[in-house]
Amino acid sequence: MANLETTYLGLKLKNPIIVSSSGLTNSADKIKKLEQAGAGAVVMKSLFEEQINHEAGRMIDESEYPEAEEYIYNYVKENSVSEYLKTIKEAKAAVKIPVIASINCASAKDWTGFAKEIQEAGADALELNMHIIPVTKSRGPVEFEQLYFDIVEKVKSLISIPVAVKISYHFSNILNFVHQLEARKVEGVVLFNRFYEPDINIDTLKFSTSKIFSTPDDIRHSLRWIGILNSFKNRIEVSATTGIHSAEGVIKMLLAGAETTQICSILYKNDINEIGVILDELTKWMDEKSFEKIGDFRGLLSYKSTKHPAVYERAQFMKYFSKVE
Ligand SMILES: Cc1cc2nc3c(=O)[nH]c(=O)nc-3n(C[C@H](O)[C@H](O)[C@H](O)COP(=O)(O)O)c2cc1C
Repeated sequence: MANLETTYLGLKLKNPIIVSSSGLTNSADKIKKLEQAGAGAVVMKSLFEEQINHEAGRMIDESEYPEAEEYIYNYVKENSVSEYLKTIKEAKAAVKIPVIASINCASAKDWTGFAKEIQEAGADALELNMHIIPVTKSRGPVEFEQLYFDIVEKVKSLISIPVAVKISYHFSNILNFVHQLEARKVEGVVLFNRFYEPDINIDTLKFSTSKIFSTPDDIRHSLRWIGILNSFKNRIEVSATTGIHSAEGVIKMLLAGAETTQICSILYKNDINEIGVILDELTKWMDEKSFEKIGDFRGLLSYKSTKHPAVYERAQFMKYFSKVE
């Protein structure tokens, strides 16, 4: 029978299915259940730099004692952090699979000290969830990218556990951006996060929320860039996210060259037993294709491995328009 073992960020995984950062991974109990359901690893719900500041700000607004401002700010910060650290410790005591902590951040300021505490609490790695929306026309892409690198450099100087960076696809040159992460000794990159997007309700003339969960069609952006990146990267490892709803999605990402795959929406839509279904189907597919281990087919259809790399470069529909007409 096929062997699903793999490695990611230097960690041993019994299979390439990671449950991605979300409400599914925000407690030790849930993480334990995910391990029992077959997950190879988990990424904990992000601790939000923004959330800590917002909570502190709200309490300060409600306080009758302006002089308490600094105390409240520090108190909330400490509590959010201590809750998070407690969850890491509890999860680590409860499971054998790797537990990857996650921080959502947009600056290299105050919060970076938490990274060290996260390491001391026992997290196996740290995922930095970063998506900075540039709402200004006075600063260019280089300045914005530098924000990411400042954060990475700061965090890497503080901790020794592996670091992965989870990004969006809003970069002019993904390959160069990842190359810059690699130069800063980042161990992993997660392509691509899916975000809350605003929508507008034309009846109420109010804002609404776009769909929170992905569909299998959403796999394509990540698939294209994982396939291309596989041929241009050196040591940095890739974890695929967005739109992976089945064994088919997992297999596609591995064929394109991902080291691991992260799933979220499908577990919300069905339940966590979906992990077992995906693992069974992945094993069956590998057996049918006579692949004994993940390494036998990982990257087989990456940009450089395929005989048709142009499929990764093609972005226009010209040919299809002529057929449809
Ligand atoms: C309810 C919900 C909460 C999420 N929270 C986080 C988070 O805290 N940090 C993060 O990096 N990603 C978060 N995500 C993004 C997921 O980890 C995942 O990358 C994204 O949903 C795409 O994967 P999917 O198509 O399998 O859902 C969240 C997604 C959902 C649906």
